Formats: sequence, C-alpha cells, structure tokens
Amino acid sequence: MKEKDVGFPTEIVTEGQTRLVVPRLKAFIKSSSEYAPSKAPVFYNPVMELNRDIAVLALQAYQRLINREISVCEPLASCGARGVRFAVEVKGTKKVVMNDINQKAFLIAKHNAELNNVKEKVIAKNQDANLLLNSYSAPRKRFDAIDIDPFGSPVRYLDSAIRALRDHGLLALTATDMAPLCGVHPKACIRKYGGKPLRAEYCHELAIRLLAGCLATTAAKHEMGIHIMLSHNAEHYIRIYATIEYGAKKADESLKNMGYILHCFECFHRESSNGLYAVERSGKCGECGSRLSIAGPLWLGKLSDTRFCGLVQEDARRTKFKRSDRIEKMLALIKEEIDAPVGYYVIDKLCDALNLPVPSVKKVAESLRKRGFGATLTQFNPKGLKSNAPSMEIAKLLRAMEESQ
Ligand SMILES: C[S@@+](CC[C@H](N)C(=O)[O-])C[C@H]1O[C@@H](n2cnc3c(N)ncnc32)[C@H](O)[C@@H]1O
Ligand SMILES: [Zn+2]
Repeated sequence: MKEKDVGFPTEIVTEGQTRLVVPRLKAFIKSSSEYAPSKAPVFYNPVMELNRDIAVLALQAYQRLINREISVCEPLASCGARGVRFAVEVKGTKKVVMNDINQKAFLIAKHNAELNNVKEKVIAKNQDANLLLNSYSAPRKRFDAIDIDPFGSPVRYLDSAIRALRDHGLLALTATDMAPLCGVHPKACIRKYGGKPLRAEYCHELAIRLLAGCLATTAAKHEMGIHIMLSHNAEHYIRIYATIEYGAKKADESLKNMGYILHCFECFHRESSNGLYAVERSGKCGECGSRLSIAGPLWLGKLSDTRFCGLVQEDARRTKFKRSDRIEKMLALIKEEIDAPVGYYVIDKLCDALNLPVPSVKKVAESLRKRGFGATLTQFNPKGLKSNAPSMEIAKLLRAMEESQ
C-alpha cells in the first residue's frame, strides 16, 4: 500500500508474527516533544505493542480454555494491528470482525488482512462502533470475544459490547484516561465510572478496580455477572480481561465483590468495606484518629484468575515477542499477587514521610514474612509492597531496619 493509495506516508512494521502497514509516524511530527500517534491521519501507537502482545496471549489462553474455534470483534481497530494479529497469531480463530469509523483506517486494516493472507477470516467494516456491536447482539450472531481499545475511556461501548457477547464470552477493555481514574479529575471519574477515585499511592490499582466495578454494575443491568481473568497496568493505560456469565444470580454474585476502600493520608492505613449501599466506618482512622478518605464503589474482588494466568504464562513462554522478558516478569507478579490484600504500600513514600533511607522492597517483604505477615511485590510499582501488615507495623519495621544498619 503506497502513499498515493491513502494520501499519506506509510511504512511496514512487524509485531509478533504479523506484518503491518502503518502511518510513518516520523513524517507527522515537527518536534521530538510531539505525540506522534495522534498526529497521523490514522492512529498507530508502537508503545501499545506490549498491550497487543498480551492481548494475543490472553485470547489464545481463552481459546484453549473453551477448546473450540472462536469469533472475535475489534470495534475500534484503527489500521488493524490488533485484529489482524488475532487472525494470524491466535490458533483456533475462525472469524475476526474489525471496524473503524475512520475510512482510511478501515482501508489500511483491510489491506493488512490481505498482506498477511487472512482475508478469508477477517471482515473489515467502516461504521460507528456501537452501531456495529448492536448489529451483532442477536443470539446467534454474538462473539466469543470482544476487544475494546479506544481513545480514553471504554465506558461508552460497554453496554453494546456486553450485549454482543455470548454467554461466558471474553471482554477485553483498555482505558487510557488515567487522570480521572487516578483521582486528578474525580468528577469525571464519578460521571463515567460511577465511583470515586483517590490520589493515593496505589491509584493504578484503584483505577483497575473502578473500571472493573463499572463493568460489574453495567453487566448486572443486563442480568449478567463478570469474572476477572487478568488485569494489568503499563505505561499510560490499564487493561482488564473479564468473562461474562448470563443470569440474574450471576449478576448478584458478582455485585457481592463491590464495596469501598477507606484510606488515611496521614498514616497510610487502608481498609475495605464490602457492599454497594452502606459504608461501615467511623469516619476516623483506627490507627491514628485522622479523617478517612473514601474511594468507590469499586471492585474489591480478585484482579486476575490463577488458572487463566497460568495458561497465559504457558503461551508466553513458548512465544517470542520483542518484550518477552517484561511480559514474563509482569505475569509472574500478577499471579503472585492474586490473593494479596487490596492496595499496596510504596516504600519510597513511607520512608519519605518517616524521614528514613529507602531499603530494598525485597528485604522489607522478607522481614515482614519473618514477622508472620504476608508480603508480595506488585505489578503496579517496582517499590510497591502488598501486605496484610498494618501501616504502623511497617513503619516500625522500617525504623528497626534503619537502626540495625
Ligand atoms: C486507540 S485507537 C485504536 C487502536 C487499535 N485498537 C490498536 O490496537 O492499534 C481508537 C480508534 O477508534 C476509532 N474510533 C473513534 N470513535 C469511533 C466510533 N464511534 N466508532 C468506531 N471507531 C471509532 C478511531 O478512529 C481510532 O482509530
Ligand atoms: Zn491514620
């Protein structure tokens, strides 16, 4: 596909086992500080290759789990990097419907399917994403998996995506609107996700919990429950993979995972309160007596599924990506922290507040375990630590570690 075919410079890149025609980003920026993906007439972000690699692995794990051929939809596909990769790289994919409202993106996506010899499996469309999803909402038309990878928030596509999924179907969601989700713009978060965020040190985990909570309540309206299979945070986005299950009982069960997180900005104490409609709290921190801040309602349940994570790990080990090392480390951390408590401590922040030098997180985790507490590292922050130890106990330990130096 040449410049004359689309009217702007393009180039060919390789992601995974797939070759892709994409806009030549360098041709669209005037200075190095410009954000190239949004300057081109068709969107392509090379930084999201890792997101797409994990999407390929997760879809493969899902296909292995249900053990039959799958149909997939990517309603916001841009030039088809993700959808074509599903058709090429995920074994057992029988159909991929890729769509974008941008006509040039649609033309390139269609071309990319031909370039990779998967045009028999791929249907390219050029319409509004919600219209497309609604046209697949009848019982025999629905998809096994839908991947929503939008600009900003996925919430405006949730209802139609849920309706276009089969029972036990897989829904993948990207959210890049981290300012609302991390509490910089709380009103926008409440408006879009129906939950209050907090600018706490573990705001990236809260962001996933807010999106998962929004998914659970949206699915519940359709009498469906959700099960979170995998979730991760990288660069400027969060990502959730969840299966949905039909039935009012399933919806009620998944709503049991909803609740609030109460946080003390003075002493780092945090606790959770289960239930959608009542918060059990005194308003005061049980540790230091300061006022507690509240986040939610949000998802308090698990953020990944152990068996699913294991399947993704197996596929990750036998597949070569540019950033395989990072993917494997990330998956190991995700699996390790599945049963850990909600929230995490950031050792730098604690040491800063206590005016202490920063020890290695691994050493703090080891010492906590020796003292009988649970402690694991976290995917969310290299200095993060998930533990059931109260904040005061961790402060005591940090002081003791400094004194023994
Ligand atoms: C972040 S990009 C998608 C990137 C792509 N999923 C990938 O992995 O490379 C978002 C895309 O959504 C498309 N878009 C925005 N609003 C839309 C709508 N209402 N219906 C369909 N596509 C839309 C844009 O044209 C853009 O290509
Ligand atoms: Zn406190």
